[in-house]
Amino acid sequence: MTGLRYIVIFAFLSLALSKSVRQTDEAKKELEQYILDKKPEIDPKWRLLYHVMPPVGWMNDPNGFSFYRGEYHLFYQFYPYDSAWGPMHWGHVSSEDLVTWKQLPTALLPDNEMCFSGSAVTDGDTMILMYTGRVISDVEPFYNETQYLALSDDGVNFQKYEGNPVLATTPNSSPDFRDPKAWRHGDHWYVIIGSKTDDSRGRVLLYRSEDMKNWQFLNVLGESNGDMGYMWECPDFFELNGKFVLLMSPQGLEPQGDRFKNIYQTGYIIGSFNYDTFEFVPEVEFQEIDFGHDFYAATTLGHDGKRYLISWFNMWEVPLPEDVDGWAGAMTLVREIELIGTTIIQKPVDGQKSLRDSEAIVTDLEPNQKLEFEKAAELIIEGSLDEKIELVFEGSEGGQKAWIRWQPDVRKVVVDRGSEDIRQVEWTPLGSHSWRIFLDASSIELFCGEGEAVFSSRLYPLGGWTVSNESPQSLRVEAYSLKRSFPE
Ligand SMILES: *[C@@H]1O[C@H](CO)[C@@H](O)[C@H](O)[C@H]1NC(C)=O
Repeated sequence: MTGLRYIVIFAFLSLALSKSVRQTDEAKKELEQYILDKKPEIDPKWRLLYHVMPPVGWMNDPNGFSFYRGEYHLFYQFYPYDSAWGPMHWGHVSSEDLVTWKQLPTALLPDNEMCFSGSAVTDGDTMILMYTGRVISDVEPFYNETQYLALSDDGVNFQKYEGNPVLATTPNSSPDFRDPKAWRHGDHWYVIIGSKTDDSRGRVLLYRSEDMKNWQFLNVLGESNGDMGYMWECPDFFELNGKFVLLMSPQGLEPQGDRFKNIYQTGYIIGSFNYDTFEFVPEVEFQEIDFGHDFYAATTLGHDGKRYLISWFNMWEVPLPEDVDGWAGAMTLVREIELIGTTIIQKPVDGQKSLRDSEAIVTDLEPNQKLEFEKAAELIIEGSLDEKIELVFEGSEGGQKAWIRWQPDVRKVVVDRGSEDIRQVEWTPLGSHSWRIFLDASSIELFCGEGEAVFSSRLYPLGGWTVSNESPQSLRVEAYSLKRSFPE
């Protein structure tokens, strides 16, 4: 961000905060009423049917992805009062199957601190949110980031802990200290937090605690050697198929060919970790986890032996066209992830199939033939990889369109939104040769094969979808229209 934009944003923030939002029962009630009153003003044309999105206003990072008392919970960075970023709240939804979602009251409202990203753990009957409190100050660098707790004994109403902050400084006093991801291992709580070195290299710090309140610094879990960006946001750390994975969202990577084409990335480093020495030894260099245009700040949840991932379905520093309609931002589908060799594969959760609303349409789509769908559809497509594949996705009433392509000469899958706005990656199928494509009112997700190459991109067609086969070959298509699973 440029200096000028900082000044503009902070001037706006001090104004917004002087409205004095407080996490009181009264403030919470007022906010829920505001949301109810504001919802009818939203233009629904690009509202998603089966992706998580804000009821009104702005959404960014997923937070606190967790399982508590028989339900999955997802929180998110939320600014209700504008379809642009503002002083952060935590929005809240829950689900029994990671597919059908219920809207819950806003969980955290900013007091003196804005409620930046964080995670959730369950301690007996208590749900504990750990998040970054960002406080604006009037001296350089004009902000201070420390870690806060909020507690709940019903998973709906949260009280901020009176001893906040619980973690106030980094070993090098870096002002960038955010996005705590906490977990339980053995007799301790652990947390990793994104930060940077004095010479602006991204790093992740590891701490340990017995009570979530008193924290001891253990180690630098990972750090850029200089070409891995100036800040590592939203770190996550977990075991997957016998290895340890450091997932994070680095800022400041230079584009390299097909890699790192978005302004910021989300990806992972595979390695090994030892709970006695607290040392993470990287074995495979950073790889992007999704190759689409709109994917940032992914986070995971381990439950019942499975590992689930969800991500913000947008990108910083690009327009979010739905903002004119009174809302902005969404989440990707929840994916189940596994590590195969050196690749994380992603598949929509099994329950995703329960949204299929019709008998399958199964057809051989000849060159130049079209299929029409309403706003929400799932397609499974297979063709010969020896020949070019090209599908065009456009609105039945116009709007933005996209091409999904297979280039057999270079063995690349391409998602092209026109005007050179292209993302592509080489694809070697691990098993299946088909593509599974999810269309929603303003999004496309493409899962290639077993989920070894995935593209998540927002797209803004008007009306329903028209899908045309512009390949030189006929394509086998299995298609379904999908039901709504997120409240309007
Ligand atoms: C942020 O504020 C805390 C007090 O809440 C203080 O201990 C810490 O040193 C401050 N951090 C920086 C980088 O100034």
